[in-house]
Amino acid sequence: MTRNEAHNLMIQMLKSKNLQKHGLAVEAIMRALCKYLQNVHDREQNEFDEEEWGIVGLLHDADYELVEKDPTRHTLVTEEKLRPLGASERIINGIKAHHDGIKASRDNYLEKAVYAADDMSGLITAVALVRPDKKLSSVTVDSVVKKFHQKSFASGAKREQILACERELDIPLEEFVGIALKAMQGISDQLGL
Ligand SMILES: [Fe+2]
Repeated sequence: MTRNEAHNLMIQMLKSKNLQKHGLAVEAIMRALCKYLQNVHDREQNEFDEEEWGIVGLLHDADYELVEKDPTRHTLVTEEKLRPLGASERIINGIKAHHDGIKASRDNYLEKAVYAADDMSGLITAVALVRPDKKLSSVTVDSVVKKFHQKSFASGAKREQILACERELDIPLEEFVGIALKAMQGISDQLGL
């Protein structure tokens, strides 16, 4: 499956522009994490296929609207759509792993990364939206870290899930914020932020 095929599928499956943008944001963070972790673990290169990591980010919530009536099926409808398209097991398992109601164990870096990137993207978006200009360019690492510790702020962005960066990826929170913020700033036009 190519990035273009994945992007087309996401647009087909998701009507909400906000959810499409969320997919793009997590794609950007995943690609950045892939590069970062490949540098750290330079002997395990087969695990770090940037396009594959990006596709998992793009499609992780693709069935969100289709499972509205039965959220316990979240990611399973995407799996059903992806199988006939020949998506790899790594992509399908990666998508399922972001949702611990479906796949509780995270068995490789890709699966750990999408779990943490999902909620980090939500936190950074929320921080941008409370800036006077609502722009990612005026968001700083410090401001995101500060809001991270303010539990009442954007409580949907699960702090425990974001902290998988430290527990499971060995990336300190502040560094993860820096990676994710830069990745999202790089596509700010597409995100409209
Ligand atoms: Fe998500």
